[in-house]
Amino acid sequence: MKATHVPPTGVERRLGEDELIVTKTDPRGLLTYTNDVFLRISALREEEAIGQPHNIIRHPDMPRAIFKLLWETIGERREVFAYVQNLAMDGAHYWVLAHVTPSVDGQGRLVGYHSSRRRPEDATVAEIGRIYAELRAEERRHDASTAGLDASWAMLQRLLDDRGQTYDEFIWSLTNGAMR
Ligand SMILES: Cc1cc2nc3c(=O)[nH]c(=O)nc-3n(C[C@H](O)[C@H](O)[C@H](O)COP(=O)(O)O)c2cc1C
Repeated sequence: MKATHVPPTGVERRLGEDELIVTKTDPRGLLTYTNDVFLRISALREEEAIGQPHNIIRHPDMPRAIFKLLWETIGERREVFAYVQNLAMDGAHYWVLAHVTPSVDGQGRLVGYHSSRRRPEDATVAEIGRIYAELRAEERRHDASTAGLDASWAMLQRLLDDRGQTYDEFIWSLTNGAMR
């Protein structure tokens, strides 16, 4: 049975400090594995999740530039860390620091992707939430979706230039180093 979202309610659901959300996907991003923590926090049943695209839990406030960065990085067979706000099926949202990695077989062929996520610090969520709101506003200012993405991508690069940081340095400067 296919799950459908309700609009965001603004209710935040918090991941416990010792909890880890794990999902795996095939190379196209379709879910092949979901752990119990993922299902509980996303208000999903396993049979609703498996086979669905990972954007099943996409939150409308997430900037597209972050997903572009995610897919470009894993497409180059590199790991990526990202702060992500997700939308549960009951309209609650939850924040994670995600670590996404490509999985390869013995011949080096891509077989899918793996993501594990922990709860970020509250202060980190507040700061990244402000930055994402600016990126998202930039995306919404443009009619054409590619123009919006180009503009928020450029804004993200400017933000990193202003801070004198690489993307990875930026991620770790916002956190106390959990998951490193
Ligand atoms: C392993 C893996 C994990 C992902 N985890 C999430 C996630 O937790 N939340 C999310 O919104 N997108 C996640 N994505 C990205 C989605 O595939 C998708 O790009 C994103 O939701 C944007 O969807 P859209 O292009 O329909 O706007 C993940 C992708 C992969 C490969």
